[in-house]
Amino acid sequence: MNEAFLTQLLQAVPLPSVLIGRGERILAANAAGLELLGPGIVGRHFLTAIRHPAVLDAIEACLRDGQLRKTRHLTSQSGRDLTFDVTASRIDLGDGHGVLVCFDDISPVEQAGQMRRDFVANVSHELRTPLTALMGFIETMQGPARNDIPAQQRFLEIMQQEAQRMERLVRDLLSLSRVEADERVRPTSFVDIAAIATSVLQSLAPLAKENEVTFVQDGPTEGMGVPGDEDQLRQVLTNLVENAIKYGGRGKAVTVSLTPIEKLKGTDGPGIEISVADQGPGIDQIHLPRLTERFYRIDSHRSREMGGTGLGLAIVKHIVTRHRGRLRIDSAPGQGSRFIISLPR
Ligand SMILES: Nc1ncnc2c1ncn2[C@@H]1O[C@H](COP(=O)(O)OP(=O)(O)OP(=O)(O)O)[C@@H](O)[C@H]1O
Ligand SMILES: [Mg+2]
Repeated sequence: MNEAFLTQLLQAVPLPSVLIGRGERILAANAAGLELLGPGIVGRHFLTAIRHPAVLDAIEACLRDGQLRKTRHLTSQSGRDLTFDVTASRIDLGDGHGVLVCFDDISPVEQAGQMRRDFVANVSHELRTPLTALMGFIETMQGPARNDIPAQQRFLEIMQQEAQRMERLVRDLLSLSRVEADERVRPTSFVDIAAIATSVLQSLAPLAKENEVTFVQDGPTEGMGVPGDEDQLRQVLTNLVENAIKYGGRGKAVTVSLTPIEKLKGTDGPGIEISVADQGPGIDQIHLPRLTERFYRIDSHRSREMGGTGLGLAIVKHIVTRHRGRLRIDSAPGQGSRFIISLPR
């Protein structure tokens, strides 16, 4: 059969594909196929052109009995792991038989599956720790500490903390999934972000006092309208200020500043920048890109002691994205941390 025609036909196939023809040589390949298997494979024997044992087995088997074969092919391209579903099917070429080999890139599906498995593992792990503690205390109270009222009081207090921890985790997970669900829906209301910041600082004043942290508020305290969802923006500021208090250290200051911006980067429209800065130990560069991942904690032991679940910044990131805004983190060890959110007005 006409080789140019076959090449044209393969070009129209939306998957990396090669056709093996007479003499078991590569008769044609499309551009994606050449990119995957290397240029210059056309004309070569398939055994020297395709070097993946599972794929070779499938082709050989298909050549032998004409039955369709499927196999999985793992490779890596520029540092990325790729997974392909490969099919080898026999084709009648008129002057003999050929085998069409198609590579279907299923890496995104595999990745999503891996993310789901990681997520379930993380959630289970986070829930199991407090649950194990609760079960331990229940057992102790039923057995050795059956009549020890003072000990029971102490245990109940710890059990309450552990139960609260589980409750917080479930609440954060629900809030994360709600935010994710409407991430593509633009907020319809108009809210005063300065007033929200003022009110968040008021509600967190007791926590600040407990940690001997002083608040500094820079810029206007009201009258800064942005299109936004009040509850969600309140949550963003709460999470950031809570972190600044928790990780900033005792006796330090937490500064919340609001700055109107004439031309926001990326949109060129007007916007507003809200920054939450602390005087804490700062964050090493290597952690910055991963900080907004779910369950990512720099010092998971310390964070957990403080009741952290590692979902706070993931929620912030999703809410900011929904508002078409950006989150930047400026930090270096010993320099404190500054979380800056820019929102379009
Ligand atoms: N201001 C900050 N200074 C230093 N480290 C911070 C700061 N904010 C966050 N981090 C680090 O980033 C991690 C993730 O923060 P995130 O708010 O997502 O989770 P968390 O505070 O541990 O738990 P949660 O907010 O769900 O209760 C924290 O565990 C902490 O290690
Ligand atoms: Mg937090």
